[in-house]
Amino acid sequence: MSQRHASLDRVEVDGVILGAMGFGAPTADEGAEVDRLLACLDAGFDAIDTAPLYDFGASERVIGRALAQRTGARPLVLTKVGLRWDDHHGEVLFVARDPASGAPMPVRRDSRPESIALEVARSLERLGVERLDLVQVHQRDPHVPVAATMGALAELVHAGKVRAIGVSNFEAADVAEAARALGEIPLTSLQSEYSLLAREIEAGPFAAARDVGAGLLAYSPLAQGLLTGAHGPERRYASDDWRADTPRFSRRARARIARALDEVARPIARRHDATLAQVALAWVLHQRGVAAVIAGASRVEQARENLGAASLSLSPLEREQLARGFDGLGEDPLARVTGLPRRVGRRLLGPLRRVGAALRR
Ligand SMILES: NC(=O)c1ccc[n+]([C@@H]2O[C@H](COP(=O)([O-])OP(=O)(O)OC[C@H]3O[C@@H](n4cnc5c(N)ncnc54)[C@H](OP(=O)(O)O)[C@@H]3O)[C@@H](O)[C@H]2O)c1
Repeated sequence: MSQRHASLDRVEVDGVILGAMGFGAPTADEGAEVDRLLACLDAGFDAIDTAPLYDFGASERVIGRALAQRTGARPLVLTKVGLRWDDHHGEVLFVARDPASGAPMPVRRDSRPESIALEVARSLERLGVERLDLVQVHQRDPHVPVAATMGALAELVHAGKVRAIGVSNFEAADVAEAARALGEIPLTSLQSEYSLLAREIEAGPFAAARDVGAGLLAYSPLAQGLLTGAHGPERRYASDDWRADTPRFSRRARARIARALDEVARPIARRHDATLAQVALAWVLHQRGVAAVIAGASRVEQARENLGAASLSLSPLEREQLARGFDGLGEDPLARVTGLPRRVGRRLLGPLRRVGAALRR
């Protein structure tokens, strides 16, 4: 397979999108973050995924500064709406800490039309662009009809401020409703967690996305690094590292994953002269209905390596071996302890690990 170009309706992206959740951490020097992002973009990414929530505007700000410095074609910018930390309206999803004062800061779901319009205006300003290439509703707001939110986004498309519309972390019925509500405007994408270790969406939201012609943007495709071989059971984490108390990074979980990496993924990687990260990303990219993977990178070399996954072709047998080899290994120990359904436990863990890290700072 040659370099893979996934096609989202109205938005052309490479098969590997740079995830910018880790750019703009309050402890980091913002100028250095801009340089790191520029170096990643120079590796060849043509799309970046961000959100207003990522470090409370800082990720978008860093991207805006990088784009202002960069010459040549601008990468596509994919951002989100629907999670607010700067207002008192809406259901609290989790409580973060204000990076400046340390005060508790509730993060709320808010997908009211007026809130969507305001968020888009702020994102345009932070990013310094005239139009957002893809706006995704970050989380379903149970108190606002999906049709009302989609109506607001459709107006922004007509006003030329947004090119395409997507949703994120939506259940199957909500994906279908969003597509219906948009009418002639296509629902471009569903962004959900999907990897060899996280396949819960397959029968529900992923199938629903395929049904309405929306491409899957797979987030955390490396299972936050667990599929790269860098997290063997012997590795120790500092107490302020969010992974130290994250169940999917427990020693037991890592030992089981390391075994599957050695027995199944490593021989395949060797055969293709590829890395484990590339094999994990390529597996996702081969799944029917996947438009792109959104992979994070803490170093430029990782970003470069991840791009290489787009040209890695796995045989049907290799894909099947990988699927079987990792089956069940992503199960959430937390969900078993709390009795929460796996899906719910996993959905809570994403925000919680960020909050945990913020609280420990
Ligand atoms: N819509 C949502 O609710 C949602 C939720 C989560 C994420 N996302 C999006 O998805 C993006 C990626 O998610 P993620 O960062 O959670 O997961 P990920 O892409 O699965 O993992 C990224 C991490 O894996 C490690 N890594 C990356 N490439 C590597 C390589 N080639 N070799 C070795 N290690 C490598 C790095 O961590 P270390 O170097 O520290 O090991 C990196 O920070 C985010 O930036 C964001 O845009 C969206």
